[in-house]
Amino acid sequence: MQEVITRAISTGVYVITVRTRDRINGMTAAWVMQLSFNPAMIAVSIAPARYTHDLIKESGYFCVNALPKGTEDVARHFGFKTGRKTDKFKGITYTNALNGSPVLDSAYIYLECKLAHVYEIGDHSLFLGSIVDIGELKKDAEPLIFRWESFFGKDKK
Ligand SMILES: Cc1cc2nc3c(=O)[nH]c(=O)nc-3n(C[C@H](O)[C@H](O)[C@H](O)COP(=O)(O)O)c2cc1C
Repeated sequence: MQEVITRAISTGVYVITVRTRDRINGMTAAWVMQLSFNPAMIAVSIAPARYTHDLIKESGYFCVNALPKGTEDVARHFGFKTGRKTDKFKGITYTNALNGSPVLDSAYIYLECKLAHVYEIGDHSLFLGSIVDIGELKKDAEPLIFRWESFFGKDKK
């Protein structure tokens, strides 16, 4: 079923990064959407089991790194292991957004957000953020479009 829903509602593929007082982490997410023009707000849906879930609550900021076409390897790197026990940033080049959230060199646009609300929605939490910093790293890049079967095979997550 999830594969069919994903074919109906297109998204890109993103790495959500976060910095707390003593560490940084990032996780891949496809469930990202726009919410409001003014103020500019977006939302990311994150399962409570993800380490990033708790780090964003601690930090109060998160950054949406939009991945361009051809960066499936980056999405797999941040999307199939947890940062609880490993440093996913080892060997990854990045800079920092205004409030310290990591910005991946491999992203084409980043949107750093100040956390505004968190709502529990089914088995995920919806993190709503106001965009406080934005940058375009690669002007001509096209987005990596999320296709369920490219990452999870048939009908599974
Ligand atoms: C293509 C792709 C899309 C994903 N989308 C989401 C998502 O929207 N929300 C979510 O909670 N997890 C999503 N995940 C799973 C997390 O990225 C994964 O569980 C990650 O290991 C969590 O890392 P963390 O524990 O360091 O936060 C996705 C994974 C992949 C590969």
